[in-house]
Amino acid sequence: MMNVIDIINKKRLGRSLSYDELSFFFNGYLNNEIKDYQMSSLLMAICIRGMSDEEIFALTKIFIESGDVLGFSDISGIKVDKHSTGGIGDKTTLVIGPIVASLGVPVVKMSGRGLGYTGGTIDKLESIPNFRVNLTTEEIIEQVKSIGLVITGQTADLAPMDKVIYALRDVTGTVSSIPLIASSIMSKKIAGGADKILIDIKVGKGALLKTKKDAYKLSQLVIKIGKFYNREVRTIISDMDIPLGHAVGNSLEVIEAMNILCGKETKSNLVELCIQLASEMVSMGKEISIEEATKLVKKSIKNRSAYNKFLEMIKMQGGNISDIKVNKNVKKIRSTKSGVIVDINALEVGKLAINLGTGRMRKEDDIDYGAGIYLEKLVGQKIRKGAVLMKIYSDINIDEKNIENIFTIK
Ligand code: URA
Repeated sequence: MMNVIDIINKKRLGRSLSYDELSFFFNGYLNNEIKDYQMSSLLMAICIRGMSDEEIFALTKIFIESGDVLGFSDISGIKVDKHSTGGIGDKTTLVIGPIVASLGVPVVKMSGRGLGYTGGTIDKLESIPNFRVNLTTEEIIEQVKSIGLVITGQTADLAPMDKVIYALRDVTGTVSSIPLIASSIMSKKIAGGADKILIDIKVGKGALLKTKKDAYKLSQLVIKIGKFYNREVRTIISDMDIPLGHAVGNSLEVIEAMNILCGKETKSNLVELCIQLASEMVSMGKEISIEEATKLVKKSIKNRSAYNKFLEMIKMQGGNISDIKVNKNVKKIRSTKSGVIVDINALEVGKLAINLGTGRMRKEDDIDYGAGIYLEKLVGQKIRKGAVLMKIYSDINIDEKNIENIFTIK
């Protein structure tokens, strides 16, 4: 007979748990036989003691087996999925999905909602009036066959164990465990039916992982899990000290993504990252070099095929893009001195955005889709005293103290 306390104690002492012990514990939790406080205790022990590779493979398997495993074998082509560990202003999926699909690599992207300071792709897409994010598996397959691109919410039965464990980790200080992050991400990607997987690991002030060392550890781990499951996994470690691009907030971010896709916005850390990620995905999907893929990616923006693919997807999922709205109340924040912008603190921007109502601090919170922040100036740019640093789209009156820490100008 297995015993809950024995298993917690075993991990507390730094010993490895078997597949059977992990399965007993995690499935027991999913079935409500093991309590929140007992699971919290085990998660904290895992956080502190870590896990062996065998334990991580076992946990990933348990997560995968908790729900459906999708197969898209009747869709031709190599299906490449992408995952980001989450950042401020990260709207890369909205840009790279259409680019990659426009180049003939099928994209089925199941995205999530934001939690904490980081936004979620599904919340961003919901700022488009009538856009459907709850497609059924049949609808997903039909749409990929028809236009090669779907971005939708995770179907309820995909790695349901991850959903409940993630929610518990979020409120018990156990989010940043690298083994737990690796099994959470990889179980969803493998259950989601991807042939190849690209993971954008964010590191910095506005990210889950704060050091490059931890980012490398996670990178090695997801590649190992991929090998175990016979999936090619590539990773990119990208900076999240400063926000990505100009916009933070749902409809503002959709508009920024469109500006990149139609070639209006060509220079920012966001544009660079989107080209890098899309090129990796195209290289994996078409089995060509990164150099060749990058040329194709740039061409798809130039000739508007990526933009047209985006519009095709919006239309097919019922969205009315011309009705997208930003908040009419716009407050301009001006610089109090002249100089060069040397830093924009991603975490402070994220906190301000949440205060404006762009995301949720609790799962049940409502979102103001039209609220947000537009950074007029980015890191490295010069600014004159009195010029506009950023615009705040909100009905809420913001205490200027919340803004002072965002920009560093020297
Ligand atoms: N993203 C996930 O999907 N899971 C984690 O645990 C962390 C980031």
